Amino acid sequence: MRVPLITGNWKMNTMVSEAIELSNEMRSGLDEIDGVDKVICPPFISLATVYKLIKGSSIKLGAQNMYFESKGAFTGEISPIMLAELCQFVIIGHSERRQYFGESGEIINKKVKAALKVGLKPILCIGEKLEDNEAARTEKVVIRQLELALAGVGNLTGLVIAYEPIWAIGTGRAATGEEANEIIGLIRCNLAKLYSKEATRSLQILYGGSVTAANSGEFIKQPEIDGALVGGASLDANQFLSIVRQTAEIKG
Ligand code: 13P
Repeated sequence: MRVPLITGNWKMNTMVSEAIELSNEMRSGLDEIDGVDKVICPPFISLATVYKLIKGSSIKLGAQNMYFESKGAFTGEISPIMLAELCQFVIIGHSERRQYFGESGEIINKKVKAALKVGLKPILCIGEKLEDNEAARTEKVVIRQLELALAGVGNLTGLVIAYEPIWAIGTGRAATGEEANEIIGLIRCNLAKLYSKEATRSLQILYGGSVTAANSGEFIKQPEIDGALVGGASLDANQFLSIVRQTAEIKG
């Protein structure tokens, strides 16, 4: 009942010319694949250009971050309404934002609410550090992150969650399919207590962290995992296409 979702987080990669090239390489291939939501998240500076290139296709556009205020004297920031002109999705609370830019649970909560208010779908990222994983604190950490991020959020409509263990991001050391499935199952269970079972049944929850064309099937075949948030491998058109194709075959 949940449509699978594959999102490419390009992070701080691609010059505008490269973003154009990559979008063009992916466009027709991605557009041919049905039954999977496909989202690409280029850097801010390329959003307007990529928007025009993928217009009319089934590919959706996402941003990698945003500020929570709608306009004003916030030099260097991009607002939810600005993004909503071009994007349907926005990644919020990525561990790199938390780690390098000091984003707290409170800030992430404001961003989630601000995105939902303008109809942008937040892809809310949560995930534990290696030491928490090794000390068997994963469930506790991710549930706390969720409670903070979702404080005052009345329902789960329009929300996507991405479970990205920090130790698996950009390290080549992905979680196993079973590990990720277990944690995502626990996330769904805990959210069912905060919201309702019905609400969590339709909630898309993704796995992220060193997903490649070679290992994506292992995650996608898991019943609790609805897709992937792909970093490095989303910069390679062939790999990204392969991940989306495999998803369509496995979940189709
Ligand atoms: P990698 O796929 O490069 O590990 O990155 C994962 C990620 O952080 C996606 O948001």
